[in-house]
Amino acid sequence: MKRVITYGTFDLFHEGHYRLLERAKALGDYLIVGVTTEAYDKTRGKLNVVDSLMVRIENVKRSGFADEVIIEETFGQKINDIKKYHIDIFTVGSDWTGTFDYLKDYCQVVYLERTKNISSTMLREQNSRIQRIGIVGSGRIANRFVAEARHVSGVNTQGVYNPRRESAFSFAKKWQIDGYDELEEFYNAIDIVYIASPHETHYGYIKSALEHGKHVLCEKPMVLRQEQAEELFSYAKEKKLVLFEGIKTAYCPGFHKLLGFAGSGTVGSIRNIETCFTKLERTDSRELTDRVYGGSFIELGSYVMLPILKLFGRGFEDIRFDTIRGKNGLDIFTKVSLKYPMGIATATCGLGVKSEGRLLIAGTRGYIVAEAPWWKTSYFEVHYENAEEVEKYSERFLGDGLRYEISDFLSMINGNRSSEFKLTRGESEALAGIMEAFMRVERRGSVYPAEK
Ligand code: CTP
Repeated sequence: MKRVITYGTFDLFHEGHYRLLERAKALGDYLIVGVTTEAYDKTRGKLNVVDSLMVRIENVKRSGFADEVIIEETFGQKINDIKKYHIDIFTVGSDWTGTFDYLKDYCQVVYLERTKNISSTMLREQNSRIQRIGIVGSGRIANRFVAEARHVSGVNTQGVYNPRRESAFSFAKKWQIDGYDELEEFYNAIDIVYIASPHETHYGYIKSALEHGKHVLCEKPMVLRQEQAEELFSYAKEKKLVLFEGIKTAYCPGFHKLLGFAGSGTVGSIRNIETCFTKLERTDSRELTDRVYGGSFIELGSYVMLPILKLFGRGFEDIRFDTIRGKNGLDIFTKVSLKYPMGIATATCGLGVKSEGRLLIAGTRGYIVAEAPWWKTSYFEVHYENAEEVEKYSERFLGDGLRYEISDFLSMINGNRSSEFKLTRGESEALAGIMEAFMRVERRGSVYPAEK
């Protein structure tokens, strides 16, 4: 009996898949089909898979060609499967020609001609028309965003708006997109908005984008007052639009894996969380010179507060800010201490003091630790009382990581799935509330709260 194996995502099952399976089956007597998990697809950069794993398996079974379906979870699994299932022939479509030649040491490798003019990517793009992104602001992060958006199918960066004509046009030229210094014109040319303008302008831009019927992805911190966050989320809901806060850590696969371990009792009940993120900035940088909206906490607070809000929630009993200030009075180093009924947490961030960036989650049975840059989570360890017992976990983190949030934002818009659980409305509102509390304590006597 000849045993054949093939692998694929089989998203939005189409004729190409059917014909591939039909011919794979015809190569032998028994066909095993490996279907990729969502997590595996994410790690290899395939971010917009629409069908769930169960649906994709069901479709493969329904084709009638598979005698057995297995799950493909990791890179490198194929060799083991071939040995385990006593495979004679490995086969995939011709788009992979050459890639799997290394399997020839274990079995015969056959590349079947790919069916022309059909692919899941094509169907995904047809089902949900390409969303034209418009960027508000043209600073550093906007540059990163354009580069990252190119890795997400279903979006196209169309244009950039900046009231300063020069900035808009030089950014547009650099990225070969359209530049606008007129808001109305900008809105007419795009479907969704990414806001990367100075913090204090977020509220106004979000509101105007929603008024113009645009979905919004806004850089963190979205707004600096809880009331504003609540108002904007309600308005978005009323207009049936997506409002999404872009904290990249919240959407990256490694951070999710870590939260999953922490949340499922691996280290017992969590009692202490410590987070730290420092990034030395030049003293003449915007972050260290903007007397109202600069400083370490406004800049990095969203990151350091995120694990605490995700694991301990919003129900803290007490919050305290301790800061070290620079000459101009701005916080160059901030420590936030929170007290919860069953635990304590500290979040530390700095722009003018360097420290060890670490995420530490301590529980009644052990602790989880992720070193810097834990905010781009790709590795963490679980430790127990017995110091020799250490579990190590890793996950890929691709590029600058913005592709994950762009992809989740898009999925929400297209209604494929609700990604809200990764950063809920309540969590975003709480973050704005914490920013507000900080501003109240730290910026007394400054322009705040004149912001409108
Ligand atoms: N396949 C094929 N002909 C097509 C599309 C896919 O023969 N027109 C084959 C692939 O070569 C692979 C299998 O079907 O062996 C599963 O491919 P998968 O990656 O799931 O499908 P694609 O349509 O290529 O998906 P995507 O566009 O997301 O890459």
